[in-house]
Amino acid sequence: MRPPGITTLGEFIVQNQHSFPYATGELSRLLSAIRLAAKVVYSQTNKAGLVDQVMGSMGATNIQGEEQKKLDVYANDVFINALRARLEVCGVASEEEDSFIAFDSEMGKQGKYVVLMDPLDGSSNIDVNVSIGTIFAIYRRVSRVGSVARMEDFLQAGTAQVAAGYVIYGSSTMLVYTTGNGVNGFTFDPAVGVFYLSHPSMQIPAQGHIYSVNEGNYNSFDRQIRQYIDQCKERTYSARYIGSLVADFHRNLLKGGIYLYPATAKSSNGKLRLLYECNPLAMIVEQAGGKASNGLTRTLEIKPAALHQRVPFIVGSQHMVDELEQMYKE
Ligand code: AHG
Ligand code: MN
Ligand code: MN
Repeated sequence: MRPPGITTLGEFIVQNQHSFPYATGELSRLLSAIRLAAKVVYSQTNKAGLVDQVMGSMGATNIQGEEQKKLDVYANDVFINALRARLEVCGVASEEEDSFIAFDSEMGKQGKYVVLMDPLDGSSNIDVNVSIGTIFAIYRRVSRVGSVARMEDFLQAGTAQVAAGYVIYGSSTMLVYTTGNGVNGFTFDPAVGVFYLSHPSMQIPAQGHIYSVNEGNYNSFDRQIRQYIDQCKERTYSARYIGSLVADFHRNLLKGGIYLYPATAKSSNGKLRLLYECNPLAMIVEQAGGKASNGLTRTLEIKPAALHQRVPFIVGSQHMVDELEQMYKE
């Protein structure tokens, strides 16, 4: 039984829909599609190791040349199907799809929103029982309602996001999201099948003592990043790196810290994708009082040029990101 006074995600969405600047109910229905898909993916991730459909590789690669895991493809299908079934969405872009998918049925064309997502983040951790996640960004379309969604609907700057969130499938499953009025976190009770509000009005501490970076790439980082990491060590900050962006971000959001995925020798723009990894987390961190940038420019203001564009990503506690940005300025 739920403790008295605790709100469910469904109740919270309805109670707060008036604070959303567009038509009442639209975003609520869209978020409830995401909630449903998250539960389905949760139930499947929980079986990793037991059933053959969950672990291992698909034997294919996505357009970015990355090996697709079975769960990448499964989660992608679950989220796309859940969103396609709603009147609100006219198209979806995903890490696992070459281009965006326009829902071009008569119903689909009436949708006012597009969703961009990383259906399964941290794929390399699926087979080893480590936290993984889903990341999503929601925008109002810019093309005419009633027409088929176009590329311009997806290539909007992060500042135009109307909502963003993530699901973390960890020691418990949580859904954390913002519609631009702060950040709230909900924990899933699998016995009841319901998300409960467990982390209201989340705020990231302005200063933390954790730095999160794949230090194996240290030698190919630029001077400022190396200088910053050296400073973290001098101050004996804790190094914490899970290798699932969602999980690293979530920990730092709760405890305070900085996450870095800078340019490397292999990839001059880092690894993370602007539209469906960096921008949603940037919106959340800013709503929680933190910062996100590429060192020089606020992530949310970067003008996207391509769906799968990568950007260097620095995100976390305000003072820590400020300090690193200062090193770039000098
Ligand atoms: P995805 O599984 O969606 O492709 O994302 C993987 C990303 C991100 O989750 C993580 O932080 C990063 O890759 C880890 O990269 P390294 O293994 O290079 O550290
Ligand atoms: Mn990812
Ligand atoms: Mn992914």
